[in-house]
Amino acid sequence: MAETERLQTLAERWTRRHILGLEELSADEITTVLDTAAHFKELAAKGHAKHRTLAGTVVANLFFEPSTRTRTSFSLAAKRLSADTVDFSASGSSLSKGETFLDTARNIEALGVTLMVVRHRSPGAPHLLARRLRVGVLNAGDGTHEHPTQALLDIFTIREHCGRIEGLTVALVGDILHSRVARSNIWGLKKLGARVIVCGPSTLIPPQIERLGVEVSYSLDDILPEVDCINLLRIQFERQRSHFFPSIREYAHLFGMNRERIRRARRNVLVLAPGPINRGVELTPEVADGPHSVILNQVTNGLMVRMACLELLHRAATRG
Ligand code: CP
Repeated sequence: MAETERLQTLAERWTRRHILGLEELSADEITTVLDTAAHFKELAAKGHAKHRTLAGTVVANLFFEPSTRTRTSFSLAAKRLSADTVDFSASGSSLSKGETFLDTARNIEALGVTLMVVRHRSPGAPHLLARRLRVGVLNAGDGTHEHPTQALLDIFTIREHCGRIEGLTVALVGDILHSRVARSNIWGLKKLGARVIVCGPSTLIPPQIERLGVEVSYSLDDILPEVDCINLLRIQFERQRSHFFPSIREYAHLFGMNRERIRRARRNVLVLAPGPINRGVELTPEVADGPHSVILNQVTNGLMVRMACLELLHRAATRG
């Protein structure tokens, strides 16, 4: 099928104007994003990495919190689709002169923006913009709530390596309490039929998380032999208001992925991490750089997933 025809077929399955979280996406919608990303990846492998589909549109990246991967990836994704980009960061902006979040976003929208990518420390900030502005909004991480494109690229990477999601056992390990990545992964993985285990110190597991359909474990060693994929979540010291475990050394001893644990895991266990990684805390350098790690594949796939999200939202917005 010709490139435009295939994209057209995928886009016909998509009607949403915003991507705010995986909680509200159906399994079909998640699969449409994954399939569109796979299509972009196939084209890139054939030397066709640049497209004209968003030519003449403006994509704004509004980052009110630090970011390396998400910000650069969304910016490059927009450029690969030939959009113009506006990159805004809170530091050095007129926020320091008293301008509100909403007024800042309205002023950026007035530049002729059609899609807005938003990261903010407050849960619900992108939802506010989706309600109050005319642009399509993509949530690039809102506090501890959701980080939908990170989960989509995690799930894409798992599907690419394992060939499926249904029936797999995926462990999310670490700071579940403060992790928007965990929440988005849980929604997405469960909708696609995976078994999900959350694992970490009891103080970092939210009460009643089983209601989301996950299993809970407080021992990485107990679950190691059962898991196909392990997603190692960063300890989010910047969001923690008290001490949740005695020391980083003890955390690494009990929950860090190291050579010994790799030896006791399944032969083809896949090791993921959303990053930024803390070498020696969530995983040792030999695991981060070893044969089971797909951490940099996740980053490469993130570009394809974000291209897919921008493409689908743009087509839905211009369809009328
Ligand atoms: N995984 C992730 O969101 O990384 P950044 O904070 O660097 O964007």
